[in-house]
Amino acid sequence: MDFNEKNATDAVLDSFSKIKDKRLKKIMNSIITHLHEVVKEVEPTEDEWMKAITFLTKTGQKCDDRRQEFILLSDVLGVSMLLDAINNRKTKDETETTVLGPFHAPSLTMSYGENIAKNVVGDDCIVSGNVFDVNKNLIAGASIEVWQSGPDGLYDVQKEGDVVDLRATFISLEDGSYLFRTVKPQFYPIPVDGPVGDLLNNLDRHPYRPAHIHFMVKADGYKDLVTHVFIDGDKYLQSDTVFAVKKSLIRKLEKGFDSDENKECYHLEFDIVMEKK
Ligand code: BEZ
Ligand code: FE
Repeated sequence: MDFNEKNATDAVLDSFSKIKDKRLKKIMNSIITHLHEVVKEVEPTEDEWMKAITFLTKTGQKCDDRRQEFILLSDVLGVSMLLDAINNRKTKDETETTVLGPFHAPSLTMSYGENIAKNVVGDDCIVSGNVFDVNKNLIAGASIEVWQSGPDGLYDVQKEGDVVDLRATFISLEDGSYLFRTVKPQFYPIPVDGPVGDLLNNLDRHPYRPAHIHFMVKADGYKDLVTHVFIDGDKYLQSDTVFAVKKSLIRKLEKGFDSDENKECYHLEFDIVMEKK
């Protein structure tokens, strides 16, 4: 029988019937079923389908070692956070997870108290807290990677050259504590000079993320934790363009004093609760 609107989905599903890998078969069956449903519901014109192909082509062409446009696409469509929700269901009081984002990169290990802001000027800020488990046992020796954008809204990897800035790895002390100096984070737009930016524009959506600092925390015997701390009061907390805000991750930025450096600064307290593997 000819391939037609009625038998199209079954014909393609039949073509996979011999796949041995059960998981791959389930995934392909689901993708084809839903993709065909979308096409049947929307009935795209051939021009519209070509536009979709061109969009995906441009998305791939925008990717290189420093830019991952597909992650950005997954982020703005809420797929990254849906995946996060499915894979990191909260069981107790552990710190909630959120998106990794495209700007994670290797960083140097710094000592307790060091300043990660080497090449930017901004409002000084101390970030500190303790790492512990859900039973309140303090965790020494945890690796705490942090990264953030500068007051100009840019990450180091978005700038020319290879200067590493506003990122570092700290190790929690014997009492589980960590502390570093930095500058106050600022809200910023995700990169909009590519197809994902055009998409947001066409959908009448703003590209902003509320101010945050990224954390990736690892400790022996515990699940790796990828999260952010968000700053209370930020005007984009309710409309993060990548849907990554969770109430439990919002902290107040308090005005304080840095007695070691004898100057005023902000203070952000963020405890980290790890879950056993
Ligand atoms: C970020 O916070 O670094 C980020 C996350 C998702 C998309 C773009 C940027
Ligand atoms: Fe970020």
